[in-house]
Amino acid sequence: MKRTQVAVIGAGPAGLMLSHLLAARGIDTVILERRSRDYVESRIRAGVLEHHSAAALRAAGVGARMDRQGMEHTSIDLAFSGAHHRIELARLTGKKIMVYGQHEVVKDLIAQRLADAGEILFEADVSGIEGLDSDRPIIRYTHDGRNQTLTCDFVAGCDGYHGVSRASVPAGQIVTHARSYPYAWLGVLAEAAPTSDELVYARHDNGFALYSMRSPEVTRLYLQCRPDEDPDAWSDRALWDELHRRLETGDGWTINEGPILQKNIAPMRSFVAEPMRYRRLLLAGDAAHIVPPTGAKGMNLALADVQVLAPALARWFDSADETGLDAYSDTCLKRIWKVQRFSVWMTRMLHAQPDADGFEQRLQQAELDSVAASDSAARHLAENYVGLPLEVPE
Ligand code: APR
Ligand code: PHB
Repeated sequence: MKRTQVAVIGAGPAGLMLSHLLAARGIDTVILERRSRDYVESRIRAGVLEHHSAAALRAAGVGARMDRQGMEHTSIDLAFSGAHHRIELARLTGKKIMVYGQHEVVKDLIAQRLADAGEILFEADVSGIEGLDSDRPIIRYTHDGRNQTLTCDFVAGCDGYHGVSRASVPAGQIVTHARSYPYAWLGVLAEAAPTSDELVYARHDNGFALYSMRSPEVTRLYLQCRPDEDPDAWSDRALWDELHRRLETGDGWTINEGPILQKNIAPMRSFVAEPMRYRRLLLAGDAAHIVPPTGAKGMNLALADVQVLAPALARWFDSADETGLDAYSDTCLKRIWKVQRFSVWMTRMLHAQPDADGFEQRLQQAELDSVAASDSAARHLAENYVGLPLEVPE
């Protein structure tokens, strides 16, 4: 039977960064990941790092490629009522954001874990966790076509919204809060040079659109759509026409077209599980919370969780001191709810609401007008966008 100190389920940003931070503190982990290395390294997700997240990757020694290839941004644009309005993040907050794809962060973390002789088992599918009430939890998984087990002191459930970790907790021990939205995002990855230095968040009567980028050659775009929409029902021509319509405001800025490399539907939900701990199981990242993608917070929340969790686990292994682990959930949830609130606010402000009456529509317009007209309203957006303060224990 295989044994480790912390069994980490999931090789997304949460699991990989946790394993890396624990290794730096001399704690042994094994990461079990259901998918192949190639799959997780090429899975296209969001791509905005808060100021803190970029700083945390740098401080952990995994920020070199991000600093070479990522794109630092000092502003974002809001497009509505036929005009673009710049939110000057750096002027309003003194901080910048980094545009760098989540899969690039994942690649960098995997490379570093393997270079440090860290153990990641790809195509290791966890089917169940037992003994969470004991001091020796057991994880059952299949790997190389065989049923295997891993024993550990703690389980880190970093296995996303659909993972097995949360589901292994006895009924009634974790409360969940959820909201769904009557829309989704159709994501488009295109081989087209970005024509804007900034991300553009557009509110249009046909629906929200987002202009983002992955590199000087690749544009990432999103269109608000129905949750059940079939991406293949959209021809490339129809997609570009709709993107032009929603993003361009007639001020001369136009988007570049190019071959479409990938189309996908990103569902939208809000979800929070409380508490984020059940005895020997600690949840982190999407396993514990989901925010709608409008503020680009998913990866940032995952990285924030594990920056709190790693020192808390280290304290337990060093001196059997459980105070950090006891505080983990409350410390994270306080900030998570603020980020949830911000993501919901951005979502409501920018999407066409299918059942909004005239009153709701006027309020939405007034919200946008306020952000564009007032430095303090814009600063509120900017402070949240670059990232709320994160208190990381020693
Ligand atoms: N066994 C092993 N691995 C599993 C299992 C299982 N039973 N179930 C899920 N996993 C793996 C998934 O294959 C995935 O690679 O857990 C990993 C979870 O990684 P992410 O989904 O990237 O979640 P997280 O690390 O919390 O990062 C959150 O990802 O979804 C985005 O928007 C979200 O940006 C946010 C980020
Ligand atoms: C992205 O680049 O994929 C992206 C950017 C900003 C968001 C969401 C996604 O709010």
